[in-house]
Amino acid sequence: MTDSVSRSLAEIRADFPGLKTREGGVWHYLDSGATAQKPQAVIDKMARAMGADYATVHRGVYARSAEMTLAYEAARRTIARFIGGDEHEVVFTRGATEAINLVAQSWGAVNLKAGDRILLSTLEHHSNIVPWQILRERIGFEIDVCPLTEDGQIDLDEAEKLLTPAHKLVALAHVSNVLGSVLDVERAVALAKSVGAKVLIDGCQAVPRLKVDVAALGCDFYVFSAHKLYGPTGIGALWAKAEILDAMPPWQGGGSMIDRVTFEKTTWAPAPTRFEAGTPAIVEAIGFAEAVDYIEAIGLDAIHAHELSLVDNLRGELRAFNSIRLFGPDHSAGIVSFSMDGVHPHDLGTILDEEGVAIRAGHHCAQPLMEHLGVPATARASFGLYSDDSDIAALLRGIERTKRIFG
Ligand SMILES: Cc1ncc(COP(=O)(O)O)c(C=O)c1O
Repeated sequence: MTDSVSRSLAEIRADFPGLKTREGGVWHYLDSGATAQKPQAVIDKMARAMGADYATVHRGVYARSAEMTLAYEAARRTIARFIGGDEHEVVFTRGATEAINLVAQSWGAVNLKAGDRILLSTLEHHSNIVPWQILRERIGFEIDVCPLTEDGQIDLDEAEKLLTPAHKLVALAHVSNVLGSVLDVERAVALAKSVGAKVLIDGCQAVPRLKVDVAALGCDFYVFSAHKLYGPTGIGALWAKAEILDAMPPWQGGGSMIDRVTFEKTTWAPAPTRFEAGTPAIVEAIGFAEAVDYIEAIGLDAIHAHELSLVDNLRGELRAFNSIRLFGPDHSAGIVSFSMDGVHPHDLGTILDEEGVAIRAGHHCAQPLMEHLGVPATARASFGLYSDDSDIAALLRGIERTKRIFG
């Protein structure tokens, strides 16, 4: 982080116990795109919520439960404010994957029919492909795939040509988890609206680094996971416009999501409770909100600028290697994918691990994108707000060593 923010990068790094090796040395963690390390504030908050403050929510008549309910609902308000939405529009889910499945199984099952079309893109994560395919099996609509530009951005000129009034949904990633390319969401929304389609944005890789305002973006659904946002696993959020969410049927039944149950007929609770069957992830919701408070205190603009400069630096260094092929646009958001001639990304990842550097190697849950790139896998370095030049230097040392080993 630059000197312009109130806390130094060294201080921020010290907030994250996960950035150390078991022996207390520096661990060069370049896999924040898979899951981010957690600040001590989140860990402490969750430990308190699971210890001294612990009780169930929404049901208890005793004071501790009432307090926990207030904390859980305050967490929902924090998440809503974070993305410019209203608290009644935020459903807690297990993560982005579950949020997309919820939209498919609830909104999709009611609003899509045989003969309709939906538009995805080549770079989507499997979690924004497979739920639609499962629904397609049942309903029989068509899935179109928007191609990418040369440098790996969703090609909205092509989207414009593809879209027709038969399209009922456009579902796209805000930031690619492989290429770091950033979608022009406003333009995508304008194109979709011109044919009357709804828009779902997969914001998993966007919310940790870009200031998101769902009202300004104009989308209908926005989904993300807490664990990529320096919060816990097991929780994420679906934001949906109130009028859409209110009209959606429940997708899972059980406790909490009902108004009244009889064997003859059951009526549902209003949204968002209608979509939260069972005892929710109480501690995780509280940790999720704490993570949001943590990154807001640092500032998303500062985080994005910091990651952009790391990306510039790393891409510049990698360009000096003849044997390295870089993927994605130059100014990708926090994520750099590459491959090395004659070295499988898994071998590179293993050698880097010996050097104390963690990268992701594989298809990154984006097999159609790998096919498009013509590779079985890539190596991916992804930054977090705590990443610094020493992480890049360690990665480059590991790449040099790999080069020597593979001749
Ligand atoms: C762009 C994108 N979408 C969706 C997901 C799925 O997130 P989760 O596994 O937390 O549900 C990921 C996770 O890697 C992602 O990067």
